[in-house]
Amino acid sequence: MKEEYTIQLVKKEVLGPTCSVLTFTCPQIAEEGKPGQFVNLSCACFLRRPFGIMCVDRANGTFSIGVRKVGKGTEAILASQVGDKFTCLGPLGNGFSFDGIKNLMLIGGGTGIFPIYFAAQYADENHIACKVVNGYRSKADAFLSDDFSKICKDFHITTDAGDLGVKGNVMNYLETLTDDDLVDTTCMVVGPGIMMRKVSEWAKSHGLDCYVSMEERMACGIGACLVCVCKIKAEQEGKEFVHKRCCKDGPVFRAEEVIW
Ligand SMILES: Cc1cc2nc3c(=O)[nH]c(=O)nc-3n(C[C@H](O)[C@H](O)[C@H](O)COP(=O)(O)OP(=O)(O)OC[C@H]3O[C@@H](n4cnc5c(N)ncnc54)[C@H](O)[C@@H]3O)c2cc1C
Ligand code: FES
Repeated sequence: MKEEYTIQLVKKEVLGPTCSVLTFTCPQIAEEGKPGQFVNLSCACFLRRPFGIMCVDRANGTFSIGVRKVGKGTEAILASQVGDKFTCLGPLGNGFSFDGIKNLMLIGGGTGIFPIYFAAQYADENHIACKVVNGYRSKADAFLSDDFSKICKDFHITTDAGDLGVKGNVMNYLETLTDDDLVDTTCMVVGPGIMMRKVSEWAKSHGLDCYVSMEERMACGIGACLVCVCKIKAEQEGKEFVHKRCCKDGPVFRAEEVIW
């Protein structure tokens, strides 16, 4: 059973009318958290809400998450002020594995850019060659682009509106890459389901390893309630698929094993 921590909001950086980066004190999560893992945070609603860890500061014992307003829970979290206290479970889930990776390509969209930031930071600190491709709706929506530019020289943006970077979505950028650009590349993707599915198909067509972080609706966050199951191929078990819990068995899965 994961321990519940009482944590305090120590910094709130407003990125836009519906989006902020929140930093909390919690030495345990700061110490243990790794890219692709998430926390389950209390809010005004009965159930906690899951958020990918955006970064940790081990020296100061803090971790940060990026939150976008969706419904009542995120609205309440975004309305909180520095000094407010929350309870939290974490770090949860399996996270990404960086073992043996030669060239990393991180692809983010929507609120997926927050956990992608943590992976980019890890790659930078561990000298893993890394390209980041973030898809945004428009320039006004291109949160953290300056922060990404600082930690990743090979950083690319696409916007639906076409007012920054490549016009279109991340696929419009990926399709410009040749096999020479993709030698020994592993992809990690966090974003809307349709984006992760399209990138997975593209990665498969180029023979690339690809991992996705599934953002299913969650409740307990620790594998007990089965709210968050997704279908994962299970040919080796003699079955078409098995149900896996995104919170406990994931949220990171091999893209080619996911039944979308
Ligand atoms: C592993 C994981 C990591 C996440 N990381 C982040 C993050 O870094 N930043 C961030 O802002 N959000 C993140 N989310 C999504 C976030 O948890 C939801 O937006 C939040 O729970 C919605 O709560 P709410 O009370 O505001 O909305 P609710 O009232 O619960 O829902 C409002 C609407 O949003 C939809 N919705 C709720 N949860 C999800 C979900 N998980 N995926 C898609 N649609 C949903 C509902 O179907 C409903 O239509 C993550 C989710 C998961 C599972
Ligand atoms: S959220 Fe309860 S099992 Fe995953």
